[in-house]
Amino acid sequence: MEGLCHHYRFLIVILVLLSGLRQSYSSTTTRQFEFNIEWKKVTRLCHTKPLLTVNGEYPGPTIAVHEGDHVEVKVTNRVAMNTTIHWHGIRQLRSAWADGPAYITQCPIRGGQSYTYKFTVIDQRGTLLWHAHYGWQRASLYGAFIIYPRMPYPFSVPIQSEVPIIFGEWWNGDVDAVENEMMFYGGGPNSSDAYTINGLPGPLYPCLKKDTFIQTVERGKTYLFRIINAALNDELFFAIANHTLTVVEADAVYTKPFTTRAIMVAPGQTTNVLVTANQVPDSSGMFVMAAKPYVTAIFPFDNSTTAGFLKYQSTRTGKIEAPILPTNLAVHNLPEMKDTVYATTFSKMLRSLASPEYPCNVPKKIDKRVITTVSLNLQDCPANKTCNGFAGKRFFASMNNQSFVRPFKSVLESHYKNLTNVEFSSDFPEKPPTAFDYTGVDPLTGNMNTEFGTKLLVVPYGTNMEIVLQGTSFLNPENHPIHVHGHNFFVVGSGFGNFDVAKDPAKYNLVDPPERNTVPVATGGWAAIRLKADNPGVWFIHCHLEEHTSWGLAMVLVVKNGIGQSQSLLPPPKDLPLC
Ligand code: C2O
Repeated sequence: MEGLCHHYRFLIVILVLLSGLRQSYSSTTTRQFEFNIEWKKVTRLCHTKPLLTVNGEYPGPTIAVHEGDHVEVKVTNRVAMNTTIHWHGIRQLRSAWADGPAYITQCPIRGGQSYTYKFTVIDQRGTLLWHAHYGWQRASLYGAFIIYPRMPYPFSVPIQSEVPIIFGEWWNGDVDAVENEMMFYGGGPNSSDAYTINGLPGPLYPCLKKDTFIQTVERGKTYLFRIINAALNDELFFAIANHTLTVVEADAVYTKPFTTRAIMVAPGQTTNVLVTANQVPDSSGMFVMAAKPYVTAIFPFDNSTTAGFLKYQSTRTGKIEAPILPTNLAVHNLPEMKDTVYATTFSKMLRSLASPEYPCNVPKKIDKRVITTVSLNLQDCPANKTCNGFAGKRFFASMNNQSFVRPFKSVLESHYKNLTNVEFSSDFPEKPPTAFDYTGVDPLTGNMNTEFGTKLLVVPYGTNMEIVLQGTSFLNPENHPIHVHGHNFFVVGSGFGNFDVAKDPAKYNLVDPPERNTVPVATGGWAAIRLKADNPGVWFIHCHLEEHTSWGLAMVLVVKNGIGQSQSLLPPPKDLPLC
């Protein structure tokens, strides 16, 4: 009896010691934020309109946390429309309930209701973004999500300051109407009226007064630019006249540093660059920075340029003068809008750091290879309807000829409750249903009608997967930035034309491939990505061009629970919205 008691006491002491240790190691800080979704009248390009905002801010507030922090964002919906918020690129380990895509991981937050997103930022650092994940609401509901590292930056240059640069798109009209019209008539969407840098279009548009972003710099100092593309439908090139950019991070993963005159950044992607103010300015003290689209689409697009300025601080006054329209706005360094060679070469320069501190954990062997087309489609017009797409047909998009239909219930909830649901089935095709010359077919006559459904790809916990994303030339070959929720992946290979399973895997980079959450699949080409499916839950995979998502270029990956709690999805939070 005595001995037993002793044993217990001993055990308790050990347990207390251990839990103390664990606490001091993790020392989790909880950071709380409040997001109120509300209308706010905003004026750009001389047009005033009510804009959906978070807390009345456009762009929305920056969330800045430290690696390891527990984050709680209470989102209160104060408008008469559904909404959800997604923390783009946050891994959401076991916390899929907080991921955000409407009807995938949650039912929308209805007007007047709130939902608190709770998650921990585990082993991630760098620049990400948050955005609404309901319809086209992310046109104005977006902001930076910055994770400060626990360890010093792996680059040794002293940083004078950090500058978030968020690109967006502005419509003079109502964005919801743009989506609705597009879906109703089956044509292409109206393009935006301006691109913006931190919400500001700049001097190349009408009504430039004060709507220009200006960053003051001190000569000789180095700045960390955290560049985020939050545009809806456009990939962008970005450059600063006379200055070079040193890329050090992409999608919140450090890269081997390299210097470039311009970057290409697709919607959903982020890129951190170092900029040294090492030029001699003229009397204006200004250098243009600008972003314009990288275009592969045949649809009408916004071909304008958003511009801002680097303003060298004058040692005499140190004062920023009102923005002037520089006489020479020729933005050196920016590639041509159709420069696919530049876009592709740039993407191929990205490499993981692959250092002892930041290893590159690319799966060397795979358990499963899935090959899927990523495609536009030209669909026959239903009888008695008018279709505004090409040749009186309508536009759709698909993966393996499946156009994803968003269900009216949360897929995650059904999965968690083991509900067999007639709305979805676990039979997403693991290869194209019919093999054809994907990138060589005639864009118009080769087209197939797609099928509609909510098909899921279900894999066991821990599956080492390869997904080959194969572009097609249906309708028009285009660049598709494919985003995977809940996982980072490694871009092990890419190329133009058709993926060749006999030859291409031999050329993969399994040493230091870039680790990302969004990959631009080259126009008329393919990309092979690898990931370890070690996050139990339901994960949306889709093209981050919002028009393509609306047309169905999406699928859902379900990762089953593994063994024990640490490999299982957490139970749903109490305030999870109901459908
Ligand atoms: Cu940034 Cu599903 O999206």
